[in-house]
Amino acid sequence: MGVFTKMKATIAEVNQYIGREVTIGAWLANKRSSGKIQFLELRDGTGFIQGVVLKNEVNEKDWEEAGELTQESSLYITGTVREDKRAPSGFELTVSSLEPIQITSDYPITPKEHGVEFLMDHRHLWLRSSRQHAILRIRNQVIKATYDFFNDHGFIKVDPPILTGSSAEGTTDLFRTKYFDRDAYLSQSGQLYMEAAAMAFGKVFSFGPAFRAEKSKTRRHLIEFWMIEPEMAFTDHEESLKLQEEYVAYIVQEVLKNCRPELKAIGRDTAKLEKIQAPFPRITYDQAVEFLKEQGFDDIEWGDDFGSPHETAIAEHFDVPVFVTEYPAKAKAFYMKPVPGREEVVLCADLLAPEGYGEIIGGSQRIDDLKLMEERYRQYHLTDPSYKWYLELRQYGSVPHSGFGLGLERAIAWICGLEHIREAIPFPRLLNRIYP
Ligand code: 4AD
Ligand code: MG
Repeated sequence: MGVFTKMKATIAEVNQYIGREVTIGAWLANKRSSGKIQFLELRDGTGFIQGVVLKNEVNEKDWEEAGELTQESSLYITGTVREDKRAPSGFELTVSSLEPIQITSDYPITPKEHGVEFLMDHRHLWLRSSRQHAILRIRNQVIKATYDFFNDHGFIKVDPPILTGSSAEGTTDLFRTKYFDRDAYLSQSGQLYMEAAAMAFGKVFSFGPAFRAEKSKTRRHLIEFWMIEPEMAFTDHEESLKLQEEYVAYIVQEVLKNCRPELKAIGRDTAKLEKIQAPFPRITYDQAVEFLKEQGFDDIEWGDDFGSPHETAIAEHFDVPVFVTEYPAKAKAFYMKPVPGREEVVLCADLLAPEGYGEIIGGSQRIDDLKLMEERYRQYHLTDPSYKWYLELRQYGSVPHSGFGLGLERAIAWICGLEHIREAIPFPRLLNRIYP
């Protein structure tokens, strides 16, 4: 195989090789031909480029093999890079030779319309299509921006365990598994461990999978999703809210800066994203309940957690994310710190994304008082010895601390304007799907 004596390049790199001959490993996305010329639309994962094969410029074998290429056939292709202002990528490849690796037949995903279930059954192939490709590159940008943001703000990344001996967010949606002869659970949230990490390192963040055995089949719920969980010692709720709005504005602006072609490929209205600048508006839970009643929601009672329709109704009144603060303690997790002087509500906030995407962040100041935490343990029957270490964090050098969790796929669904969260993750786990 002589191709590697030539310069090997990716499509993203061709701008460095103008006028030179390169070899690209690629797949055929599409093809057109007219007489003595064939136009090959090539993709290699880094981008798309058009290869132009002229009958008079290549040998007969290459001409014929170009003719045999079908959608998603794989090949090495060699040619000279030319600048072409009209081409979507700005470049074109004048082909000098090609070497098919595999000629594909009957690729299931054709340019015609397919149903969602069909596409989901072929998710392993669907990832190659330009829309899915663009969404997952935006996901990558959000992840990169997250690492940059927290590293630049003095956080260090700490990885909490996935297999845990106890629940972090209530027991109703736990995945139970065997841990040799004991029970264990897949992590719903790394938070409790991140609190331990904050006491060791000050400011920490995690990025990892979370598992919720929720029987919900909505466009916002995944069974397995990825969460970013910062936790900060010597930090109150107010300081945490400031960091949250700065962080969310930053990831949106980084996507706008670095993913213009991807946003265009998925047809996102970027004007809506340009507006996402800190600070974000805030309303209290009390105000939200009053507002919902005015809007005709008769089902809502003070003390209830909000459902999707409630969140959507609230968020519709803002064109940027909105914090709903100070929920009733009984609607939230056991570890949240009560509001001083008003013990029935807690120092917490949910951040609701605009355009009906729902809660993208849940966060709070944590109880740091040992006595109060002991009381909560009694109220919530946290008698299992697996909770002992968490209580000890309040016994040895307890400090005010706060943190939050951003659901990556919820954030991506909003930033990309997706109809359903399933497109925001490479291989979604849904109520009735664990294939592929
Ligand atoms: O509000 P949640 O349950 O909060 C926690 O887990 C806290 N321990 C976080 C913390 O303070 N460190 O989840 C946080 C976020 C939600 O706001 C939502 O964006 C996302 O995780 N999320 C889900 N995303 C997709 N599918 C699900 N089933 C989700 N459940 C929560
Ligand atoms: Mg929540």
